[in-house]
Amino acid sequence: MRSDSNPFSFTKHNHVLVKFAVSLLLIGLAFRLLVSDSIRFSSVGETPAIEQTTKTESPEANAVPLEDEEPGSLDFALNDSQTPFSNDSTANRTQISETGECDLFTGDWIPDPSGPFYTDRSCLAIEGHQNCMKNGRPDSGYLYWRWNPLGCDLPRFNPKKFLDLMRNKSWAFIGDSISRNHVQSLLCILSQVEHADEVYHDEEYRSKIWHFPAHNFTLSVIWTPFLIKANIFEDINGVSSSEIQLYLDVLDNKWTDQYRNFDYAVIAGGKWFLKTAIYHENDTVKGCHHCTGKNLTELGFDYAYRKALRLIFDFIARSDHRAFIFFRTTTPDHFENGEWSSGGTCNRTVPFKEGEIDMRDVDTTMRNIELEEFEKAAGLESEKGVILKLLDTTQLSLLRPDGHPGLYRQFQPFAKDKTAQVQNDCLHWCLPGPIDSWNDLVMEILVNNRQHR
Ligand SMILES: *[C@@H]1O[C@H](CO)[C@@H](O)[C@H](O)[C@H]1NC(C)=O
Ligand SMILES: *[C@@H]1O[C@H](CO)[C@@H](O)[C@H](O)[C@H]1NC(C)=O
Ligand SMILES: *[C@@H]1O[C@H](CO)[C@@H](O)[C@H](O)[C@H]1NC(C)=O
Ligand SMILES: *[C@@H]1O[C@H](CO)[C@@H](O)[C@H](O)[C@H]1NC(C)=O
Ligand SMILES: *[C@@H]1O[C@H](CO)[C@@H](O)[C@H](O)[C@H]1NC(C)=O
Ligand SMILES: *[C@@H]1O[C@H](CO)[C@@H](O)[C@H](O)[C@H]1NC(C)=O
Ligand SMILES: *[C@@H]1O[C@H](CO)[C@@H](O)[C@H](O)[C@H]1NC(C)=O
Ligand SMILES: *[C@@H]1O[C@H](CO)[C@@H](O)[C@H](O)[C@H]1NC(C)=O
Repeated sequence: MRSDSNPFSFTKHNHVLVKFAVSLLLIGLAFRLLVSDSIRFSSVGETPAIEQTTKTESPEANAVPLEDEEPGSLDFALNDSQTPFSNDSTANRTQISETGECDLFTGDWIPDPSGPFYTDRSCLAIEGHQNCMKNGRPDSGYLYWRWNPLGCDLPRFNPKKFLDLMRNKSWAFIGDSISRNHVQSLLCILSQVEHADEVYHDEEYRSKIWHFPAHNFTLSVIWTPFLIKANIFEDINGVSSSEIQLYLDVLDNKWTDQYRNFDYAVIAGGKWFLKTAIYHENDTVKGCHHCTGKNLTELGFDYAYRKALRLIFDFIARSDHRAFIFFRTTTPDHFENGEWSSGGTCNRTVPFKEGEIDMRDVDTTMRNIELEEFEKAAGLESEKGVILKLLDTTQLSLLRPDGHPGLYRQFQPFAKDKTAQVQNDCLHWCLPGPIDSWNDLVMEILVNNRQHR
C-alpha cells in the first residue's frame, strides 16, 4: 500500500522547482524556539538561502517518509517561508466571544486522573502513525489532562447520548489528514458503545464511510485538503510532477455532491494552502503562491484562503439543505529545534500554560481569516435554517506540544537501532490524545444548541 504521506512536492522535470522543494527540506519549515520570559515559536521570515540553494538532489530528500505503508500519514507540509502577510501576533486570539459568557475556546489544561476513554487495544480504528501507545511512546502523562474552559465546565463526551442523538443521521468530516485524525478520535470514543462497520473506502484509504448498525448512524470522512477544486499531481509515491492548480472560484465537488446527504459536518481547511500553487479564477491564471520563476503575480496564500473560505461559507449559508455545520479552525504544529525534515522534534511531555507560547504568525494569519470570514457567514445562515458553528480549536491545541506522535509516528522506532534517524510528526495528534477534547467541544456545542432552540 502506498502512502499519501509525501509532504513535499518534487518536480521531476523542472529544475527550479526541485531546487525549491529541496530548499524547503533544508529551510522552509524551521521554527525557531526563542527562549525568553515566554516561549515563542517564530516563523522563518526572510529566507534568502532559498535562492542560493543549488542542489538538485539531496540526501535529505530520502528522509521524506515515502516508504510508509500506511495511508494517511503526513499528507501536507508546512511551508511558512516567504509568506507575505502581516505581523499581527496573538492580539485577536479570543475576539469572537469576549462577551463575558463562557468561552469554550479559552482556558487551560488541568490534570485529569481519569485518563482517556480508549486505548490502542480497545480501539482498532487508530492509524499506525498516530498510534503512539502501540508505537512505543514511553511517557503517558500527556493522556491525563482535560481542557478547562474559562468560566464554564466542559463535560466529557457522552458516547451513548451522542449515538442516541444521531439515530438515523449522517455526519461527515470534511478536510485534510487532520480531519481524518479527528474522525478516528470520534470512532474510538464511540466504540465504547458501538463498533462501526467500515462500508466504504476510496483507493487511497483517504475517504471512508462507517455505519453504526444499532443506531443507523452513518459517519464519513472526505479527503479534500483544499475544499475547492484542486489538481494535485502526485504519483503513486506522492511525488509531485507539477504545481498544484487551484481554482479559487470552484468548490470541490467531492464534498459538495454529497453535501445534501449530511445532517452534520465538521469542515476544516488550513495548511495545504501554504503549498506552492497556481491560482485560477474565472478560467484564467490570476497568480500564484511560491512560484518564483514563473512570471506570475505572487498573491500570497492568504489571498487564496480567504477566497476559498468565502466560497465555502457562501455555499453552506445559501444552501437550502438544513444542516448543522461546524467550521474548525487551523491546527498548530510544534516542531522545535529544526524543521520537519532536518531533525525538528517535539519531545515535550506536559502542556504549556496560557501565555507560555505565542501562536506563529502563519497560524495567526490563517485563523484571523477564518474568524473574519466565519463572522460574515454567520449572519447569512439563519434564514435557511442552516446552523453554522465555530470550532475554534487552534489556541487550545497550541497549548499541547506534548500531544504529537513525534518519533513515535513509526512502530518501535528504536527497536533495531538505538541511534536510528527517525522522522518526527509534530503536526498530527496521538490517539488517544488532546484531539479527543475536540470532540468534547463538539458534543457541548451540539447539546447546548439543542437546548437553546
Ligand atoms: C513584528 O512585530 C514585532 C513585535 O510586535 C516587531 O518588533 C517587528 O518589527 C514586527 N515586524 C514587522 C515586519 O512588522
Ligand atoms: C483585532 O480586532 C480588532 C477588532 O475586532 C481590529 O480592529 C484589529 O485590527 C485586529 N487586530 C489584529 C492585529 O488583527
Ligand atoms: C429511524 O428510522 C426508522 C425507519 O425509518 C424509524 O422507524 C424510526 O422511528 C427512526 N428513528 C428516529 C429516532 O428518527
Ligand atoms: C436509517 O436512516 C435513514 C435516514 O438516514 C432512513 O432513511 C432509513 O430508513 C433508516 N433505516 C432504518 C433501518 O432505520
Ligand atoms: C515552499 O516554498 C518554496 C518557496 O519558498 C517553494 O519553492 C516550495 O515548493 C514550497 N513547498 C511546498 C510544499 O509548497
Ligand atoms: C470572466 O471572464 C469573462 C471573459 O473571459 C469576462 O467577460 C467576465 O467579465 C469575467 N468575469 C469576472 C467576474 O471577472
Ligand atoms: C512577464 O509578464 C509580463 C506581462 O504579463 C510581460 O509583459 C513580460 O514580458 C513577461 N516577462 C517575461 C520574462 O516573460
Ligand atoms: C528533546 O529534543 C532535543 C533536541 O531537539 C534534545 O536536545 C533533548 O535532549 C530532548 N529531550 C529529551 C527528554 O529527549
